[in-house]
Amino acid sequence: MISSVAFAERRSALVELMEGDYCIVVNASSSKPTSADGMYPYTPSRNLYYLTGIDQENSVLVMWRLKGREAKECLYISPYDEAYAKWYGTVLTKEQATENSGISDIRFVGGEDKFFDKLVSRERLNKFYFDWHNCGLRGSPGKRLSYVNTFKTAYPGIQAESISDKIFSLRMIKDVHEIEKIKEAVELTRKGFEAAAKKLEPGMNEREFEAELIYEWAKEGEKTPAFPAIVAGGSRATCLHYVSNDTDLSDGELLLVDHGAMKNLYCSDITRTIPVSGKYTARQRELMEMVLEIQAKANELLRPGKLHREWNDEVLEAYKEIMIRRGEIKEPEEISNFYYHGIGHHLGLDTHDENVADIPIAPGMVFTIEPGFYSAEEGIGIRIEDDILVGETENTNLSANFPRTPDEIEAMMASK
Ligand code: GLY
Ligand code: MN
Repeated sequence: MISSVAFAERRSALVELMEGDYCIVVNASSSKPTSADGMYPYTPSRNLYYLTGIDQENSVLVMWRLKGREAKECLYISPYDEAYAKWYGTVLTKEQATENSGISDIRFVGGEDKFFDKLVSRERLNKFYFDWHNCGLRGSPGKRLSYVNTFKTAYPGIQAESISDKIFSLRMIKDVHEIEKIKEAVELTRKGFEAAAKKLEPGMNEREFEAELIYEWAKEGEKTPAFPAIVAGGSRATCLHYVSNDTDLSDGELLLVDHGAMKNLYCSDITRTIPVSGKYTARQRELMEMVLEIQAKANELLRPGKLHREWNDEVLEAYKEIMIRRGEIKEPEEISNFYYHGIGHHLGLDTHDENVADIPIAPGMVFTIEPGFYSAEEGIGIRIEDDILVGETENTNLSANFPRTPDEIEAMMASK
C-alpha cells in the first residue's frame, strides 16, 4: 500500500498549480454494461486514485479555495448499503477512506450537488474544473460527461474547464512510491514470463502460454493484467496488437510476448521475443541483435530537455541508418515496411500513461523503449521492450533483471 502521506502530497502539488478561487471535481469512473444485465469489471479512475488512493466506484474528490483563503478538500463515497453488501460486498467506511487518502472530511455521495449549489449561489464561485479525460473525444460519452453537462445546464454562467492535463502533468513525473510499484509489477511479470518460457515447446498453444503467465500473477493476488497480453507466434507477431492468442506454436518460429502485470494499479509493459524450440536460428539472432542495437541507441537518446516526439524522430533516423548499414534496407523510406510504430510511451497508472505534448522529457519520467522489426515475408515479428526511468545523467532500466539477449534467453529456457 502507498501511504496516505504520498496522496496528500500529490493533492498539495495540484493546489500549487491553481490560481485564484476554484472548485475541482474528480469523479470515479463507472462500470460499463456488457449485454443484458452483465457488467465489465470496474476499472478505477487513475486520476482519482493518483490523488486519493481510492479505487472505489461512485467516489468524488472535491477540492476548493474561496476568496483566496486556505485550500480545502473533501471526498464523497457511497454509504453502507445492506442489499449491496449481500450481493457484492462491503464498501469503504469513512474511517477507511480517511486512512487510505489522508482526507479528513469524508461525506456520502448525493450531497455534492447541494454543496456545488452553495459554492455558486452563496459563495459566488464561478470557476469549476472537472476531470474531463475520456469523457468525450477519446472515450465513449460516459457518466462523467453527462455529469459535466448536467452541471453546465444547471449553471450556464459558470466557467467549467478541464483539470485533466494538470493532473497528467504531475503524473508524468513519478515519485519514489510509484517507481517502487512499477518495479514490483515488472518483477511479477518476469516471474510469469520465466515460468511460461520454461514450459514452451512446439505444439503449445498461444493461449496456454498466456494462461501460464497469468497464473503466476494470480498466485500473488493480481487478478487483472495491465493490458491484454499479446502472445504471437511467427507472422502473427507482425500484427502489433494481436490478441487472439489462439494458434499452436511451431518449431523454428519466434514467439513475441508483450505483457505486463500490475501492482496497486501500477503497470509494467515488457516485450520479449523467444524461440519456440529454445534456440534461435542464425537469422533470428541477427535480427534480435539489430533490434537490441536500436534499443540501446534509443536509450542513449532518451535525455531530459527534448520533447517526446523529438526523441521519437531522432530514434527513427538512427534506426534507418542502422538498417541500411546492416543491409536490411537500401533507402531510408523502406523502413516503414518493417517498423511502423512509435519508440515508446509513458508508463505508470496507465499502460500508455498520458503525455502532455509540450512538457519535455525530465528526470523521474518512466518510458517504455520498444523498437521492433516485422517482416510478413519472413514470418517474423520481433519486439524488445523495457521500462526505463529517466535520470539526470543516466537512465535506469527497471526491467534489467529480465533476460533480454539471445544468449540470456536461451540459457533461461534451458534451465528448466
Ligand atoms: N507494448 C505495446 C504497446 O505499448 O502498445
Ligand atoms: Mn508498450
